[in-house]
Amino acid sequence: MDSIAVASEETKRSAHFEQLTNKIKNKTARVGVVGLGYVGLPLAVEYANEGYSVTGIDLQASKVDQINKGISYIQDVPTSVVERVVAAKKLRAAADFSVVAELDTINICVPTPLRKTKDPDMSYIVSACEEIAKYIHPGMLVILESTTYPGTTDELVRPILEKAGVVVGEDLFLCFSPERVDPGNPKFNTKNIPKVVGGTTPACTEVGKLFYSQALQNVIPVTSTQVAEMVKLLENTFRMINIGLANEIAIMCSRMGINVWEVIEAAATKPFGFMPFYPGPGLGGHCIPIDPFYLSWKSKQAGVEARFIELAGHINGQMPHFVIDKIQNALNDQTKPLRGSHVHILGVAYKRDIDDVRESPALDIIHLLNQRGAKVTYSDPFVPTLSIDGIQLEAQDGVPATADCAVIITDHVAFDYKSLVRDAALIVDTRNALKNIQSDKIVRL
Ligand SMILES: NC(=O)c1ccc[n+]([C@@H]2O[C@H](COP(=O)([O-])OP(=O)(O)OC[C@H]3O[C@@H](n4cnc5c(N)ncnc54)[C@H](O)[C@@H]3O)[C@@H](O)[C@H]2O)c1
Repeated sequence: MDSIAVASEETKRSAHFEQLTNKIKNKTARVGVVGLGYVGLPLAVEYANEGYSVTGIDLQASKVDQINKGISYIQDVPTSVVERVVAAKKLRAAADFSVVAELDTINICVPTPLRKTKDPDMSYIVSACEEIAKYIHPGMLVILESTTYPGTTDELVRPILEKAGVVVGEDLFLCFSPERVDPGNPKFNTKNIPKVVGGTTPACTEVGKLFYSQALQNVIPVTSTQVAEMVKLLENTFRMINIGLANEIAIMCSRMGINVWEVIEAAATKPFGFMPFYPGPGLGGHCIPIDPFYLSWKSKQAGVEARFIELAGHINGQMPHFVIDKIQNALNDQTKPLRGSHVHILGVAYKRDIDDVRESPALDIIHLLNQRGAKVTYSDPFVPTLSIDGIQLEAQDGVPATADCAVIITDHVAFDYKSLVRDAALIVDTRNALKNIQSDKIVRL
């Protein structure tokens, strides 16, 4: 390449950079969010609130319809807010990717589940990127937010987008930014959770940092997409392994007749070098049970076996069985067999005060109870119906009088624990929800 060609390449790149960064700064950048779920919708609303014109793209027609009618289907996003930004023409939704042609930025927030074999399922990212590539144009910022293995942005996303003729770092700015949203958390939300972002090139990082700084309070740039991808996996692997340790200690304590909750509470009084994690009925949700396996899959390819992850996965996976044993033993102590007994589950969401049942341990526990011939009912103020093993269950208002045992799987604040202890015949508490109540009816994890 001669010097004139090099100069014109640089001019071209800097022109796109200047144009895009100006649009971001003066809020004329047209923002796109692909995947309007738990992550994408709050992000879209945040930018609409800041005055940007935001377009959400989702394949589910029902979500697109609801947004365009000003209705929220995500618990942490009030309908009143969606209604306001839609009425102000700051937010609209579409099911068709042709709108990408009009956009300046795109955040990709599509699912990243595991296949049955525990391998990453990249099909949602690939399909979203292929659709984006059809309408991509020079001068765009594309940020992947879906949790994934290190290398995804560079090895998988970049080639799909570059096939369309754009060049990353020159006329397309590509980043990865891990999403840390914690549904149901009253203190931390999309706006005030610090946002890590890493770009394919320094210019990409700069544009990504500028973009997030417009709507979010604290942005932390890192030097590459791989670092940003690894940050998320470290965070979630850290939680998964420490929960695994807490679960193993709970199993040990149970055998030794020690109250594990009291042990953790006392250990947590140490002002340094200890951070409490709690045992429970098993891992749940879209992140902690899944993300570490993205890392172990990738690290296997790099010749490193992720032994901590495999071990914690094994221990955490045993917890629903441990809970079933607790239920069975508690019933046996009252000379009742599990088969034919009526077991009432309190809480089926994967954590307190949310409506999400994805990967919830309650599903495994209900399945195991069905397998062992128990009659199962449940209560959950956030989950009115539940389909499991081909059976449609409807949430009950309280513990039915016929229940032989109530099992607290999710410690929703709305449950009336005092009445529960008064009325139930037997209670297995997997969350220490009854820590301040003493009764012979209570069996703790
Ligand atoms: N939910 C959380 O608490 C959380 C927290 C941190 C990170 N994450 C990560 O963020 C990502 C998204 O998670 P989520 O909980 O928002 O998922 P979600 O299922 O709530 O939302 C994803 C949305 O993407 C849509 N979608 C799927 N394929 C699409 C496509 N090709 N084009 C357009 N839309 C498509 C779906 O219809 C759905 O509405 C995942 O990688 C997840 O691991 C989630």
